[in-house]
Amino acid sequence: MDSDTPNISPQQYEVLHGGGAEAAEIARQRLSRRSFLRRSMLAVFGVSAAASVSGALFYLYPSVSSGFGGKIVVGKTTDFKAATPATFMLEQQGVFHRPTARTYVIHMDASTQFKLTGADLAAQLSEENIVKDKDGSYWVALYQKCVHLGCTVPFRDNCASFKCPCHGSHYNVDGEFLDGPAPRSLDRFAFSVADGNVTVDTGTINNKVAHPDPTTRLISVPTIACSA
Ligand code: FES
Repeated sequence: MDSDTPNISPQQYEVLHGGGAEAAEIARQRLSRRSFLRRSMLAVFGVSAAASVSGALFYLYPSVSSGFGGKIVVGKTTDFKAATPATFMLEQQGVFHRPTARTYVIHMDASTQFKLTGADLAAQLSEENIVKDKDGSYWVALYQKCVHLGCTVPFRDNCASFKCPCHGSHYNVDGEFLDGPAPRSLDRFAFSVADGNVTVDTGTINNKVAHPDPTTRLISVPTIACSA
């Protein structure tokens, strides 16, 4: 007997083999039940297969499924044109806002002039989560939130810096504090580039970058003042 053939009672068996309308009805019901069982088994198989595929995708690309608080792929390296700090233009070169990650992706050109050199430069870049790419350019992912009281800080093309509209805290292109009531420089997230993808780890934040002094400041103070 087929494993999916439902059992029948002796009375039903007699009717079946005796023929007639009643037999036809019982035969129709058996076919219906058989179809139902087949469809049910196919549905269970389909759900299992879908679960297996989604599990494999999560294993291969864990960052794809993360929201804020996890790793977020914010674009391709080619989406973020590098520039020297004085020539930054929002969404065009040097500075790019990615709201899903609450991040400004900063990409400084390899020719960027830093105020420190040698081991001091390397140590301060590490301190501020600034990553040197193999092409010589520099990346950093700044948290958009002002470290004073939490307003979102806009980038100002006209003075090549971040200026908070709430109480005036002012930060350089790399997030270093310039002036205002903020108690430290902008916070920044862990950042990585792999296979052409730019990933921001919004679950790993550095909120300990102090006000810079002459021994730690990386980028020169902008020469153009921000208007109110
Ligand atoms: S919240 Fe930005 S200066 Fe106060």
